[in-house]
Amino acid sequence: MAAMSISLARLALPTMLQGAGGSASRKPHPGALAFPAKSFFGAPLAASAAAVASPAAAVSPLRRRPSSATAVVAAGKKGYKMRTHKASAKRFRVTGTGKIVRRRAGKQHLLGKKNTKRRKRLSKMVQVNKSDYNNVMGALPYLKANKNAE
Ligand SMILES: *[C@@H]1O[C@H](CO)[C@@H](O)[C@H](O)[C@H]1NC(C)=O
Repeated sequence: MAAMSISLARLALPTMLQGAGGSASRKPHPGALAFPAKSFFGAPLAASAAAVASPAAAVSPLRRRPSSATAVVAAGKKGYKMRTHKASAKRFRVTGTGKIVRRRAGKQHLLGKKNTKRRKRLSKMVQVNKSDYNNVMGALPYLKANKNAE
């Protein structure tokens, strides 16, 4: 009786593993099965999948920043609102020409060994690196920034 139940378990185990994930034959460990399906950046994977499924429907989720107030209203009708990341809102602001600027690090303490020129330089706001614009604008969907502003 015991031998029979063991053989049943042997039969059942591979089928369970195949049900859990596609590449079950390579990695039999159940914990490892779920991993290949997920991306480290989960959202881009899902977004690209949506783009493949229906290009017309994929446009609105990918456009994080509405260009006008009407887009915000349209998002509200769908039942969700984009929310400002409040910590980022305290750290970035937009200039009159639409540049995103930030503070310089290193002007909180240990200033005795920093000369006047350096301290003055650290006082000034500087433009955020253009390659980081998408990160900032993703966190602050209502920021009125202009990516093309020099
Ligand atoms: C801006 O970011 C890019 C990519 O990370 C980097 O190569 C470049 O040196 C950065 N520019 C400045 C001024 O930090």
